[in-house]
Amino acid sequence: MASVTHILGIESSCDDTAAAVLRIHDGRASVLSSVVEGQSGLHAAFGGVVPEIAARAHAEKIDLCVEEALAQADLPLSQIDAIAVTAGPGLIGGVLSGVMCAKGLAAATGKPLIGVNHLAGHALTPRLTDGLAYPYLMLLVSGGHCQLLIVQSHDRFTRLGGTIDDAPGEAFDKTARLLGLPQPGGPSVEAEAKAGDPKRFTFPRPLMDRPGCDMSFSGLKTAVLRARDQIVAEKAGLTTQDRADLCAGFQAAVTDVLRGKTARALEQYLAVNPEAPAIAVAGGVAANRSIRAGLETIASDYGVAFTAPPLRLCTDNAAMIAYAGWERWQAAQVDDMTLAARPRWPLDNRAPALVGSGKKGAKS
Ligand code: KG4
Ligand code: ZN
Repeated sequence: MASVTHILGIESSCDDTAAAVLRIHDGRASVLSSVVEGQSGLHAAFGGVVPEIAARAHAEKIDLCVEEALAQADLPLSQIDAIAVTAGPGLIGGVLSGVMCAKGLAAATGKPLIGVNHLAGHALTPRLTDGLAYPYLMLLVSGGHCQLLIVQSHDRFTRLGGTIDDAPGEAFDKTARLLGLPQPGGPSVEAEAKAGDPKRFTFPRPLMDRPGCDMSFSGLKTAVLRARDQIVAEKAGLTTQDRADLCAGFQAAVTDVLRGKTARALEQYLAVNPEAPAIAVAGGVAANRSIRAGLETIASDYGVAFTAPPLRLCTDNAAMIAYAGWERWQAAQVDDMTLAARPRWPLDNRAPALVGSGKKGAKS
């Protein structure tokens, strides 16, 4: 392999169509371009991602995203050394669009084709951004995912726990909808919560009384709904302060659950990996200051290094897919034209299957 390598990454598993070019120079990766074409406007009226609309939009945009990523990287396709593509898990129509596009490019150019697990892309991002060494503990929290993983290598993951119903971002989005706040719900709930009293409402901390690292967030949003309805019944409406207090109470509950379960996972992790312990987060919810601060506190309480990649690489993107593809390529894990799109693809096959599949499709 030449000392300078260029990988094209393609991502289309949910509601972002993305392409990116990564340069690897003497083992160090840098992102030359990362194009992300979101679809939220297309789905806004439906209260969630509509798979058929997503698939069609991916099919329309994917070639343009690849072209744009190559243009921004100032490289012709002939200079690309390998093509990495998300092959699952996700909404099957979208994943198929990406896989077909990647196969077409690989067939036309004769370059290697590498199928990547989308969750592995997220889980390996701290290696792309910070060069984090294996092993480390990863909390993956977004609108579609919630998992606590020990990342041992690019293809060895131990899942310590995850949500049994909604992902935290999904709970933020649903809570925002209940309170008439704009989508995506995470940033709007966080902004409202700033002026709120987190102690006025005592929302549940689901599954905190049970051992293990599994989490649950769907009951929390129902608790917010009940509290809202009670105020409306008493006062015929919500004041700005009521809304801020509901947001603050909800955010405090999510923070407590993520912090508590991450502390538990960290103890399990430290029992087997006591040397140079590290914890990393990825996913859109990692943008939340209260949650980030909670996790930082846990890390410093246990004397563990904490890594949070920049947000544009925490949320869905194709640079992480290119990077995970490069690690697979280094391990000689190359695919061929039989590469299949997989709606479900757990990172850890030994862990029991997760229940439920939220607005953004399968969670494992
Ligand atoms: O990783 P992402 O872009 O997409 C996937 O779900 O894969 O994450 C988006 C999710 C949305 O549910 C959004 O509400 C949530 O991340 N989010 C936040 C914040 N910013 C984004 N949740 C809480 N606080 C935030 N500041
Ligand atoms: Zn994702």
